[in-house]
Amino acid sequence: VTIYIPRDSGALALGAEKVAKAVAHEVSERGLDARIVRNGSRGLYWLEPMVEVETAAGRVAYGPMKARDVPALFDAGLGITAHSTHPLFLGDPEKIPFLEKQTRLTFARCGITDPLSLDDYRAHGGLKGLENAVAMAPADIVKQVTESGLRGRGGAGFPTGIKWKTVLDQTDDRKYIVCNADEGDSATFADRMIMEGDPFVLIEGMAIAGVATGATKGYIYIRSEYPHAVATMNAAIGIARQAGVLGVNVLGSPNAFDMEVRVGAGAYVCGEETSLLNSLEGKRGVVRAKPPLPAIQGLFGKPTVINNVISLASVPIIMDKGADHYKDFGMGRSRGTIPIQIAGNVKHGGLFEAAFGLSLGEIIDDIGGGTATGRPVKAAQVGGPLGAYFPRALFDTPFDYEAFAAKDGLIGHAGITVFDDSADMLKQARFAMEFCAVESCGKCTPCRIGSVRGVETLDKVAQGVERDKNLALVTDLCNTMKFGSLCALGGFTPYPVMSAINHFPEDFRPHPVKEA
Ligand code: NAI
Ligand code: SF4
Repeated sequence: VTIYIPRDSGALALGAEKVAKAVAHEVSERGLDARIVRNGSRGLYWLEPMVEVETAAGRVAYGPMKARDVPALFDAGLGITAHSTHPLFLGDPEKIPFLEKQTRLTFARCGITDPLSLDDYRAHGGLKGLENAVAMAPADIVKQVTESGLRGRGGAGFPTGIKWKTVLDQTDDRKYIVCNADEGDSATFADRMIMEGDPFVLIEGMAIAGVATGATKGYIYIRSEYPHAVATMNAAIGIARQAGVLGVNVLGSPNAFDMEVRVGAGAYVCGEETSLLNSLEGKRGVVRAKPPLPAIQGLFGKPTVINNVISLASVPIIMDKGADHYKDFGMGRSRGTIPIQIAGNVKHGGLFEAAFGLSLGEIIDDIGGGTATGRPVKAAQVGGPLGAYFPRALFDTPFDYEAFAAKDGLIGHAGITVFDDSADMLKQARFAMEFCAVESCGKCTPCRIGSVRGVETLDKVAQGVERDKNLALVTDLCNTMKFGSLCALGGFTPYPVMSAINHFPEDFRPHPVKEA
C-alpha cells in the first residue's frame, strides 16, 4: 500500500510531521509493506493533516489526524481496508462535497501526486503542454494563451497573452520570465499550495512562457515566510534540470531555458511588480514609475514577463488541452477557473478551484459552511488587505472581475476573509490605513503621509471627536489616495476603508460593543 501524508506547510502547522513519524513507526513495528509519500495538500484545511491510503478499491482518507490516533487507526485497518468505522474515516476524498464540487484544472494534481516525482508528474498528464509548445512557433503559443482568455491571477486581471505578446515583440538580446510568488494578501495561499504540492506545473508554465517569448532565464521571487515552498521549488528545479526539462535544450528542442529561486525579505510592497524587480536586482524595494512597462523594460532593463504563480501554473493545461477547453469555463470576460481561497472566521476553510461565476454567498455559506464561531456572517473582505468589505446585501455578486468592480470591489488574488457579527468595521477601516502606513514604500505623499493621517482621523471618529467632520475628511483623503498614489498599495487602501464606511455606517456611530 501507499500512504500519503501531506508535506504542505498548512498540514505541517497542524502536526503532519508528527503524524508521518508515527505512521512510519507503526509500519515498521507491524512489518507492513507500505510506502509513505509526502504529498501536497488537497486544500481541505479543516481536515488536515489528512492522510490518504491507496487501497485496492481506490484512495481513502482519514482526518484530521493526530499522531496519537495513529496506532488505533492501524488497529482499525488503516493501510489494509477500504472501509473503516473509525470516526476519522472520511472515505473516498474525491467524494467529500468540498472537493467533489470543484473543477480542478490548475490544481488537478495537487494532493494527489508526489510533488518531487517527475515520473508521477508525467503519469498524471504533466509536460504535455510544454511538449506541444516546443513544437510550435512562439507567436502561435502566445495566440493560444490569448485565446484561452487567461487573465493575471495575481489580482489585476490583465490578459496574459497580451502581456506575452508585448515581450515577444521586443527584439532585445535578453528577456526574462519573472514569477511573482510574493503572495502577501490576507487569506491567500494558492501560490504556496501549488509550489509545495505540484512544483513542476509552475516550472512547466515558466518554460512555456520562455519558449513563447524568447526569454531564456526565469526567476521565482518567493516570500521569505514560505521556507517550504522555497525548498520544494529548489529541489524540483534541480530534478527538472537533471531530466532535461530545463537547460540549453528544453525537452531536446533548440530552446534554452533555465530558472532559479530568489527569496524576498518580507516587504508586502515587493509583491508590486516594479518593486519586486528592484528587489531582484539587489536594490531597495521601491516602486518604479510606469511607463516603461516591465514587458518593455523590466529586469535589468530588459523585456520581462512578470506573472503570478497561478497565471503561469494555468498555462500547461491550456497548452495541453487547448484554448477552447479552458475558455469553456467561466462567465463574461472572466474565463477558466480560479482557485478561491476561503479563510478567516469560516467553518470549512481551504482552497476551492471553480469556474468563475459562483456567487460570494454560495462560496461562504454553502461551500465554506458559514462562520467557525457559528455566529451570523457580517462581512467578507475579498482581494486581500486592499480589497473591499462586502456586506450580506452584496453576497449575490458573482465571482467575476467585472461584477466585483461594478460593486466597488475587487477579486484580487481571490482570497476571502470571513467575519462574524462581532467584527467592528471601524477597527477594520483603521487597520487598512495602518497596514498602508506600515507597508508603504514611501515614494509618494498620498500613501506615505495620507495613511498616517487616516489612522489619526479614524481614531478621532472612534473617540467621537467631531465625528461627521472627520468622516468627511477620511472620505476626502481616500479620494486623494485613490487618484494620487503611484501604485495599488496607496491607491487601493480606500477600498476597505470606504466600503466599511459605506456598508456598515452603524459601526462609525456610537454603538454597543458586541461580545466576541
Ligand atoms: P496594473 O493594472 O497596473 O497591471 C497589471 C499588469 O499588466 C502588470 O503586469 C502590467 O505591467 C501589465 N500591463 C499593463 N498594460 C500592459 C501592456 N499594454 N502590455 C503588457 N503588459 C501590460 O496592476 P498592478 O499594479 O500590477 O497590480 C495591482 C493588483 O495587484 C491589484 O488588483 C491587487 O489585487 C493585486 N495585489 C495582489 C497581491 C497578491 O498577494 N497576489 C498583493 C497586493 C496586490
Ligand atoms: Fe510606494 Fe505607497 Fe506610492 Fe505605492 S502608493 S509607490 S507603496 S508610497
